[in-house]
Formats: sequence, structure tokens, C-alpha cells
Amino acid sequence: MVIGGNMIRIRSCASTNDLARELALAGEAEGTVVVAEEQTAGKGTKGRTWFSPRGKGLYLSVILYPSRPDVSLLPLVAGLAAREAIFASFRIRVGLKWPNDLLWEGKKLAGILCESSFKGNRMTHAVLGIGLNVSHEQEDFPPELRAQAISLKKITPVEVDSEALLESLCPALDRWYGRFLEGRSGDIIRAFEEGSVLCPGKKVTLLVNGEEVRGTYRGLDSRGGLELEVGGRRKTFFSAEITSIKE
Ligand code: BTN
Repeated sequence: MVIGGNMIRIRSCASTNDLARELALAGEAEGTVVVAEEQTAGKGTKGRTWFSPRGKGLYLSVILYPSRPDVSLLPLVAGLAAREAIFASFRIRVGLKWPNDLLWEGKKLAGILCESSFKGNRMTHAVLGIGLNVSHEQEDFPPELRAQAISLKKITPVEVDSEALLESLCPALDRWYGRFLEGRSGDIIRAFEEGSVLCPGKKVTLLVNGEEVRGTYRGLDSRGGLELEVGGRRKTFFSAEITSIKE
């Protein structure tokens, strides 16, 4: 089934990712999208919360049963689809910050949370969650986020319609997920690097399991891992957060 062929619309839930997970465990079809007007306990990466007030953002999760093992590419797939949908709707090219963020002039416009479940080493399902700030005024964000977050409304004069955005996001997700299923990781990596806020040679600081790691960015590997040269040795990271980027 195509992504968004089955759309479950919810007025309010704790987290669309949690709801999608329950539905996946009950056997809901691949490509089902759960979209909520608000989340009362929206989840971000690294155990953070995702601020999800009613009617201000797009909060959705996609149920997937990926047949491939290289699922570390899925957050990149979602980022590329969201970037493409934003460009199609507003002619704005947002930046991709590995692995989960979409940025506009350094501020966070959207985030991705990909959660997967395994039985032994077999993946049972993946839930790809996307949260996009749509119509927040700056003062709508909690004070601690105001300096780092932004919404589409603040960066485009075009009227922002969440529904229209969702309509272009689903086919974009379907195209990029299709490339993933076909094993076209090279296309995914190339496109992500093209849209990335990072370019090879930049000095990067990562937070890896609470520890800072500094190095020079060298690119992404074929599974979407971030390659950093640290003290003359190349290291690949799959789960880390970029905390600073310098020339
Ligand atoms: C991040 O921290 O950048 C990831 C944010 C992901 C938020 C989305 S909103 C829809 C889905 N449901 C959740 O609880 N989280 C994701």
C-alpha cells in the first residue's frame, strides 16, 4: 500500500508514534499514517518531549515493515521527503541536519523520530514519526525553545495549509521509501549530502552517549552513518547528536 493510502486522523493523543506502534503490533497495514491535531506527550529524540499544541504543527507517524536491514537510513528518508514537500509547497530549501532535523537558518523547523521493534534480530516494524512546526508564532514556543525553533509561518509569506502539506508529504515519503526498498542507498546518501547543512572538512562536535567527540566531518557511509576523522582515525557514528559545526 502507498504511504498515506490509509490515514488515521486523531484529535488528540499522547504520541502518534506510540499509537502507530500499537496499531503495528495489531497488524495495521504498511504505509498507514497516523496524524493528530495535538499530542499531549509528543516524543522527541534522546528522551526529550516534542512540543505539540493543537493546530500549530503537523504531527504524524508512518507504520512500516521494512524488508531491508539498513533501517538507519529511514530517518534520512523522512528528512528528504519532508524537505521535498516543503520545497514543492513553498519553494523554500531547508537544510538537513544529520540524522533527524530540518533547519532554517540554524533554527529547528522539524524533527524526526524513528522507532523500531525487534523479535530476536528480526525487525517486526518501524514507526517513522515526523513533527513539523507549521503556524507557531515565536511566543507560542516554550521560552527555552524560542531561540532555537521556528515555524513555516515565520519563513514564508505563502499561507501555510497543514492539510496540503500532508498531501505532498505522503507521496514524497512513498517515493523515498520506495528508493530505500529498492536498495538505492547511494541515491539517498547523495541527496541527503546535497541538502545537508554539513559539508566535508567542517569541524564537528558530537554528543555520543553523553560524551563529547570532536572531529572533522568526512561524509556519510552507505548505511547513513556519520563519518568523522577523530585524532587521525576515521570513525562512523549511528546514534549521536551534532552539537556544533564550525568552518
Ligand atoms: C526530534 O526530537 O527532533 C524528533 C521529534 C519527533 C516528533 C514527532 S511528532 C509525531 C511523532 N510522534 C511523536 O511522539 N514524536 C514524533
